[in-house]
Amino acid sequence: MSSLELTPLHPLFAAEARGIDIRQPLSPSEVKQINAAMNRYAVLVWRGQPLTGQQQIDFAKSFGPLDLGLKKVFKRPERLEDERLIDISNVDAEGKVARRDSPKNLSNFANQLWHSDSSFQNPRAAYSMLHALVLPSWGGNTEFADLRAAYDALPERTRSEIEGLRAEHYALHTRILLGDEAYTDDQKKAIPPAVWPLAQTHPGSGRKLLFVGVHAREIIGWPVAEGRMFLSDLLEHATRREFVYTHEWQVGDLVMWDNRSTLHRGRRYDIGERRELRRTTIEDVPEATLMAA
Ligand code: OGA
Ligand code: MN
Repeated sequence: MSSLELTPLHPLFAAEARGIDIRQPLSPSEVKQINAAMNRYAVLVWRGQPLTGQQQIDFAKSFGPLDLGLKKVFKRPERLEDERLIDISNVDAEGKVARRDSPKNLSNFANQLWHSDSSFQNPRAAYSMLHALVLPSWGGNTEFADLRAAYDALPERTRSEIEGLRAEHYALHTRILLGDEAYTDDQKKAIPPAVWPLAQTHPGSGRKLLFVGVHAREIIGWPVAEGRMFLSDLLEHATRREFVYTHEWQVGDLVMWDNRSTLHRGRRYDIGERRELRRTTIEDVPEATLMAA
C-alpha cells in the first residue's frame, strides 16, 4: 500500500504531495489519505505529473461527480474534446493564441479576481485540480488564500457580526465588473445566483472559515451598497499576504485545492504568449467521498 508524503509549502496551509501514483486508479485508502491531507492543507501540489486528459478525469472522479461550471450555460466552441476537461488557456478553438479581446481572455481575466470556483451555483465546487501543460515565459502564477486562517484572524466583533449573514454569489458579477454586459435575458435566467453563509464550518476539518470571494455581490437583507462594501472589506482581510500561498508553475504540475476553504486567483502574464492548463472540478454533493475516515 502506498502512503502519502507531505512537505508543507507555507506556514499555514498548502503542501507538496508525493508517494501516491495519481495516474493509476486510487484505492479507497489512497482516497482517504488525500482527503485527510486536503482537510489539513487545503492545497496539494503534485509535481512532475505527465497526465493525459483521461487520467486527470479519472483522478478527479475518485473524489466525486464532475462539475462543468459555466460551460453548461455558455456552450462556446471548445478546443478540448472532452467537456469534462475545462480549458484554462488563452488558446482559441482553432488552436491559435486567442485575440486579446476574445471571450476566452475575458474568462481568463475573471480568473484573475479572487474567487472560489462555481461558488455562484448550488451545488458549488468542492475540489478543483489544475494541470499545467504550456507556460508563458513570465508571470501567470496562481495564488491561494486560506479562508480558515482568515476567519481565525477576524476581530471578535466581526465574527459575531457575520454569524448568520448570507451572501448572494452571482456568476456574471465578475464579468460585468470587467466591462462585459452583453448577456441575453435567457443567458441571465440560466444562471440564477446561489446563496452561502459568510461564516461556515468546513465539513472535513471542523474549522470555521470566512466564505467570501468576488462572486459575492450582496448580503441578503442588507442595502446593496452597504453589503458590497462589507464584502469588499472582508475579501481584503481574507487575502492579506500572510494568508496567501503563491504557486509558481512548472509544466507537469497538478495543483488541487478545496474551493470550500480557499480562494484563488491567476496572476498577470503576457496574453500574447501561450498558457495552457486543464482543470477538473468536483461538485460538493453528499455523494462526494471527501471524508478522511
Ligand atoms: C481556475 C483558475 C487561475 C489560473 O482554473 O479555476 O482560476 O491561474 N485559474 O489560471
Ligand atoms: Mn478558478
